[in-house]
Amino acid sequence: MTKNITFLGIETSCDETAAAVIRENDKGTADILSNIVSSQFSEHERFGGVVPELAARAHLENIEYIINRALEKSRTSLSQIDGIAATAGPGLVVCLTIGLNFGKSIAKFSNKPFMGVNHLEGHALSVGLQTKIKFPYLLLLISGGHTQFLIVEEVNKYKQLGTTIDDALGEAFDKTAKMLDLGYPGGPNVEKFSNFGDKHFFKLPEPIINKAGCNLSFAGLKTAVLRESKKINGDQKMKYNLAASFQNTVNKILYKKTKIAIEMFKEKTKSKNPKLVVAGGVAANKSIRKNLFNLSKEIKFETVYPDAKFCGDNAAMIAWAGIKRFNRKLSNNANISARSRWPLDEKAPYLKGPGLKL
Ligand SMILES: Nc1ncnc2c1ncn2[C@@H]1O[C@H](COP(=O)(O)OP(=O)(O)OP(=O)(O)O)[C@@H](O)[C@H]1O
Ligand SMILES: [Mg+2]
Repeated sequence: MTKNITFLGIETSCDETAAAVIRENDKGTADILSNIVSSQFSEHERFGGVVPELAARAHLENIEYIINRALEKSRTSLSQIDGIAATAGPGLVVCLTIGLNFGKSIAKFSNKPFMGVNHLEGHALSVGLQTKIKFPYLLLLISGGHTQFLIVEEVNKYKQLGTTIDDALGEAFDKTAKMLDLGYPGGPNVEKFSNFGDKHFFKLPEPIINKAGCNLSFAGLKTAVLRESKKINGDQKMKYNLAASFQNTVNKILYKKTKIAIEMFKEKTKSKNPKLVVAGGVAANKSIRKNLFNLSKEIKFETVYPDAKFCGDNAAMIAWAGIKRFNRKLSNNANISARSRWPLDEKAPYLKGPGLKL
C-alpha cells in the first residue's frame, strides 16, 4: 500500500498570507489538517484596493507566525511532512517572493522536496480537496485576476477555450462596489446588497454576448455602471438596484457563455456527461452558483463547486496541487523564481490590449 502524502502549502500571491497542512486520504480526497488564512483587508481598505508594497510588508510580518500556526494546528511536525509547496505565480512578485523563499528555505534545511505551484492550478484542482473528480472537466475560473474557460485534461495539462478580453470578473465586482461605495472587499458586498435591489431596474450592456465564442468582456459593463452611478446621486435604494442589475447582467453573460463553453467541451473531449467546475473567489457567489445550476438542468451537465472557503485564496489548494504534482513526479523545481504572469495554457493566444479583432 502506498503512503498517503502530506504537504505544507504556502500562499502569498496577493493580499492573503496563508499556510495549510494537507494529507491525501483513502477516499482520494484530502484531510485538511490545518488551513490558516490571514487576510489583509484592514491594511488595504482605506485605499479601496491592494497596495503591493503594503501587502509585501504584511506578508513579511505574518508569514512565520502563520506557518507555525498551520503546523501546530495540524499536530504535525516538520519531520512528518513529505514536501513543501508554495505559490510561484501569477501574482505580485514582491508578495510571491516572500512565500516562495520561505518555502524553499524550509524545504532546503529540512531536506524535503519543494514544489513551486501555479496559483491558477491551485484554483483549478481545488475541487479535489473534497470531491473525487475524474479528468477531463470544464473549468470556469472566476477570480480577482482571471476569467477563463479551460479544459482540465490532467494535472499540468490545460486547454483554454475562452478568456476575458479585458477585466476579470472579480475586478468588475470590486470596481462596481467601489463606484457604489459599498465597501471593500467588493465582491461579497455587491452580492449582499444585491439582495435589497431590483435586478431588472437598470438595463446594462452584455459585451460581446453574440460573438467571440466563449470569450468574455466586462469593461463595457463596468463603464455603464460608472455612468449610471453618477446619475443616482448617492440614493441608497438606487445603489442596491444598480448592484442587483450588475449581478443579474453578469449572470446573463455567464449563462450564455457557459452554454457555449459546454458545447465546445463536449465536441473537443467527446464527453457525453460533461462536468463543470466553477472555482476562484467569485465562485463563492450564491446567485452565480444558482444561475449555473439552472443552466446545468437545462442542458444536462453536472456542476461541482469547491466549498466557499476554498474558492478565495488559500494554501490548502496550493498544498493539494503540490501533492498532485509530487505524485506524478512533475519536477521538484527548487530553482523556480516568482512569475507575475503564468497562464495555465501557455499556448493560448493573449487576447488583451488594443487592436484586438474578434
Ligand atoms: N461572493 C462574492 N461575489 C462576487 N465576487 C466575490 C465574492 N467573494 C469574493 N469575490 C471576489 O473574488 C476575488 C478574489 O478571488 P481570488 O482570491 O481567487 O482572486 P485573486 O487571487 O486576487 O486573483 P487570481 O486568483 O486571478 O490571481 C475578488 O475580486 C472578490 O471581490
Ligand atoms: Mg486567487
